[in-house]
Amino acid sequence: MDNAGLAKKLASLAQLDFDAAQAYNEAAPMVGKSDSEIREHILLFYEDHKRHAKTLSDAISGLGELPPHFSIDIMGYAFEDVTLLLGATGTFGAMIALEQNEKLVAQAYADMLDDSDFSKFPMDVQSIFKAYYDDEKRHLAYIESVLHQIEPALKK
Ligand SMILES: [Fe+2]
Repeated sequence: MDNAGLAKKLASLAQLDFDAAQAYNEAAPMVGKSDSEIREHILLFYEDHKRHAKTLSDAISGLGELPPHFSIDIMGYAFEDVTLLLGATGTFGAMIALEQNEKLVAQAYADMLDDSDFSKFPMDVQSIFKAYYDDEKRHLAYIESVLHQIEPALKK
């Protein structure tokens, strides 16, 4: 695969990570005041996604290609759509919307690791994809564990 082809894949992940960072940014104020531990995780995950987007952009520059200009509008609307559609509010609404988002991002990284060209990517890019996929699985696992705790309480 040529550098331009790889840069395109990196750019699509960078945009996804940037969108995910925006989603966390929008979700943070929705979290209930008493849920400070969840809010801390949201802020950590927000930082992870920002770091991912930055590192992926730097990797694109390293290939001699132009990194993407991030657009914030699209995700803002998508995030609102999810919360409105589900009628979910507060911590539960935030976590439901973030779960949808994390599934998308985790799947995108899983697809990258399954890419038939994966073994031909530069070693540093392979390492980034593997490490970030682990981050995404960790984010998703945390969100799902929180939802498992919240959902039974909501049904009472
Ligand atoms: Fe994530």
